[in-house]
Amino acid sequence: MLKINNLNVSFGGIKALDIDAFQIKNNELRVVIGPNGAGKSTLMDILCGKTKPCGGQALFEGENIIGLSEYEITKRGIGRKFQKPSVFNGLSVFDNMLLGLKSKKGVFSSIFYRLSSEQADKIADVAKRVGLLEHLTKPAGELSHGQKQWLEIAIVLLQEPKLMLIDEPAAGMSDAETYKTGELLCELSKQNSVIVIEHDMHFVEQIAQGMVTVLVRGQILTEGSFDDVKNNQEVIDCYLGTPGSAQTVSR
Ligand SMILES: Nc1ncnc2c1ncn2[C@@H]1O[C@H](COP(=O)(O)OP(=O)(O)OP(=O)(O)O)[C@@H](O)[C@H]1O
Ligand SMILES: [Mg+2]
Repeated sequence: MLKINNLNVSFGGIKALDIDAFQIKNNELRVVIGPNGAGKSTLMDILCGKTKPCGGQALFEGENIIGLSEYEITKRGIGRKFQKPSVFNGLSVFDNMLLGLKSKKGVFSSIFYRLSSEQADKIADVAKRVGLLEHLTKPAGELSHGQKQWLEIAIVLLQEPKLMLIDEPAAGMSDAETYKTGELLCELSKQNSVIVIEHDMHFVEQIAQGMVTVLVRGQILTEGSFDDVKNNQEVIDCYLGTPGSAQTVSR
């Protein structure tokens, strides 16, 4: 589904990302871990069209998406949830989701937009999947931090992505919210491919069904199962054993 070749970007002469090869299959849930500043979010920025790389290719279903606008990339089926929640606190959960649904359509169709019962059903269905059905009329500002993250995931889901990019979903969540988020992501990967960036290793252990990719200083240090990666001495030296880097403290 996604194949990256020789993708690189520099900021101010410093290489932030330099990936030789990286691949995601259909219905795969891939976790990307690595120290602060490793280039994890930059990888997602490139894949959603927010950042233009200096060179390389990202083939999505066979088509190189590098150079396409964010809108074009969304239309092709890549959805992005950013690291910081950015929902509209003054609007209800429903209205936030409605805006998400509209943004799929482009400006002109949004102006003449009428909500059909089919679309209202779709919002209710997605709200149910992320556990927000009972909160549709609540202002988003009254949601817990975890619920705001789920609302963001819901907004991405409304765009019906084939590949979801989810940056640090569990950051700042309670243990119960983190666990629920893990269940949600595993559920989502039955229908879409998902790339998740995360620092919380308990959460990574919960969701890592297949391969985990370790990014260090913009490069892929290693890829393997959660156990392979957790016991890899280089990963321990660069990341897991570094105080304040990966969150490995037992709960
Ligand atoms: N738009 C940008 N302009 C300039 N420098 C940038 C930009 N985006 C990222 N960087 C730099 O690129 C490097 C990689 O940053 P990135 O945000 O991708 O790291 P990360 O792995 O997501 O880290 P964290 O775990 O802290 O979120 C950092 O040195 C960062 O300062
Ligand atoms: Mg980041």
